Amino acid sequence: MGWNSWNAFRLKIDDALIRTQAAALVETGLNKAGYEYVVIDGGWEGFHDEQGLFHSDPQRFPDMKALCDYIHSIGLKVGIHTSPGPKTCSGREASYGHEKQDAETFAAWGMDFVKYDWCSADQVYKPQQMQAAYKKMADALAATGRPMLYSLCQYGMQNVWKWGASVGGNMWRTTGDIGDRYNSMILIGFGQNGLEKYAGPGHWNDPDMLEIGNGGMTDDEYRTHMTLWCILAAPLFAGNDLTKMSQTTLELLTNPEVIAIDQDAAGIQGRRAWQEGPTEIWSKRLADGSFALAMFNTDNHLMSITADFKELGLPEMLQVRDLWLRKDLGVVSKSLTLSVPKHASFLLRVKATMAMPPSKSR
Ligand code: GLA
Repeated sequence: MGWNSWNAFRLKIDDALIRTQAAALVETGLNKAGYEYVVIDGGWEGFHDEQGLFHSDPQRFPDMKALCDYIHSIGLKVGIHTSPGPKTCSGREASYGHEKQDAETFAAWGMDFVKYDWCSADQVYKPQQMQAAYKKMADALAATGRPMLYSLCQYGMQNVWKWGASVGGNMWRTTGDIGDRYNSMILIGFGQNGLEKYAGPGHWNDPDMLEIGNGGMTDDEYRTHMTLWCILAAPLFAGNDLTKMSQTTLELLTNPEVIAIDQDAAGIQGRRAWQEGPTEIWSKRLADGSFALAMFNTDNHLMSITADFKELGLPEMLQVRDLWLRKDLGVVSKSLTLSVPKHASFLLRVKATMAMPPSKSR
């Protein structure tokens, strides 16, 4: 979990902005909720000098080590973005031919996370060399002796979920870039179904950073974004301006019971358990034997969704808690029907129980 500069700021980043966002991560309590890494995405790069040493942009990032020290001093970790190609996706300097030295530079600056983004690497590698290109940087990072989380970004090409872990990846993007629109988010999120067997502790499918708070979706749609990413056990990287967060955005990003689903110790990625037209139910088994259930309505109207426990492979009698409302719904027998507004969702935690449901039917 952490924050990444790209979704809100694109290339318009500098030392001061990153410091301000890092400080806001602490001031808003996001770090206490679990957000830990501050990832400097594209826009920091300068040039490789004659000795092959990678320099950050001298105007915008005059002292990368001092910036990392600051971020560490407030209790956070720090990450950086580069590419196996000669240039990043924005045409800026990248790591081709400098992998070993760049890994050493990142370690010397104090980086804890490296996002390695394919970008221009097609110019220098054949498709069948992709895995080796990723392994090369993994080895270079390992050789520095500094633990750095390794984030693969190549948009899911060549079914990366099948080999991402074997080249040292701790997470790998499974799709192209997310946009701050409901359709983009839902397509990417639902597109993770079937990839669950490749995810687990230390090696995760990554459906991209969060857009919550960036303004392109309604509150219900952003709640759906968070619900879906958490049932997927996806990496959670906030992607908004942390200095200008509404109370709703803050609550969507920090609900502890919702985050607990994402971060559950069993590390199981949830999957689609039921679908009927525009309504779906996803389920995720949790470490304590309970389940998270997410109900989604992708229609443009209010829909009622019935979770039939038997159809979902669950026990007949369940204790149900609504995690967004943080409210127990009591013991429910056989099925639960909820009215779900347009593009909204429910996230429930359900646990088998022997207790009888209340005599009045729900
Ligand atoms: C690609 C990645 C994004 C971001 C940009 C930076 O598009 O997928 O997440 O890192 O590059 O240029």
